[in-house]
Amino acid sequence: MLTDLQQQPADALLALIKLHNTDPRADKIDLGVGVYRTGQGDTPVFGAIKAAEKKLVEEQDSKAYLGPEGDMGFVEALMPYIFGKDSAEMAKILEAGRIEGMQTPGGTGSLRLALGMVKRAGCKRIIVGKPSWPNHNQICADLGLGVVEFNHAAADGTIDMDALRTAIAASEDGDAILLHGCCHNPTGIDYSHAEWDEIASLLAASKILPIVDLAYQGLGAGMEEDAYGLRRVLVSVPEALICYSCDKNFGLYRDRVGALYAMVADPADLPKVMSNGHSLARANWSQPPDHGGAAVRLVLEDEKLTAQWLDELDQMRDRMRQVRARLAAAGKTGGVDLTPIGGQNGLFSIIPFTPEQVQAMRTKHGIYFAGSGRINVAGLTMGNIDQFIAAVADVTG
Ligand code: LMR
Repeated sequence: MLTDLQQQPADALLALIKLHNTDPRADKIDLGVGVYRTGQGDTPVFGAIKAAEKKLVEEQDSKAYLGPEGDMGFVEALMPYIFGKDSAEMAKILEAGRIEGMQTPGGTGSLRLALGMVKRAGCKRIIVGKPSWPNHNQICADLGLGVVEFNHAAADGTIDMDALRTAIAASEDGDAILLHGCCHNPTGIDYSHAEWDEIASLLAASKILPIVDLAYQGLGAGMEEDAYGLRRVLVSVPEALICYSCDKNFGLYRDRVGALYAMVADPADLPKVMSNGHSLARANWSQPPDHGGAAVRLVLEDEKLTAQWLDELDQMRDRMRQVRARLAAAGKTGGVDLTPIGGQNGLFSIIPFTPEQVQAMRTKHGIYFAGSGRINVAGLTMGNIDQFIAAVADVTG
């Protein structure tokens, strides 16, 4: 039976890690998978997380199972940061008990549950901007959900609102839409506040279920600013799913830390809705890994550690802004214009390389990034950015 299986292609992005690792050149540059790097090119554990992990090792007295929902202290401690402490409209939703969550293994686990839940609810089509994070489409395909694509950004790098308006207008009953809350992966091109306001009204007037993927909160403009769109949508629609990842904003990548939240119109429906999340979790991984989520909870339960974490996050964001500003200042470079990168957000931007140019960047210059032309700007430092810009000029000129 097993010999009947078809060979599957290796995940292109994850395969890049190996490709870069085996390149012997000392000046190679890794702009592939989305991990933050410091100005020295490292991805250290956050100081606040290290301190919380120490506490965890000292204080944790059992590793007995917690259940499919994981550590609810973690899930609840995140809620003020995701949903906001200051908005009266959001406060009303929270006080009414319309939102409940559960822990998941990373943002991928959360997406898997969200898409599995809508499938169980009868959804057949997910409306997704193009391009999107390749795993979005991959999970939909694995679940047998159809994907309806609309163009995310126009050729000039601005949001293609017309494409989104048309996709919403053409939606069918039972469709869901998957939106990136901030730091769009792979383009870095986010909706403005005015565009989010319009999206929220369009969704309110439709029957589409919004699924908001918030995997980079704090890496764009700030923790509050990056949640603007999510909160606008939530106060406008009756129900939504929120897929959250702590892998980037707490630097917990390999520990796989995420959460799924459901918002419903009538809190009486929450037990039924969440029971589907729990049973899907049980069927997929039974219960989420605990360590990373427990460390996040300990950070958020301690005022000093919370301040330290937010400060570390600010430093990451500032560094990425500096890299973006330096790339934008290079302007027209060979055959491409790097200027728009300055106004984009988060870890990623796309440079319109041809497939041959992507290959030349790898073979001739030892610079590795996704075949789509997506670069992880955090892989650039003040020490290698000139080398990168010169290589771009060389292969595109
Ligand atoms: C990325 O897009 O590079 C990250 O989200 C990591 C991943 O799992 O793909």
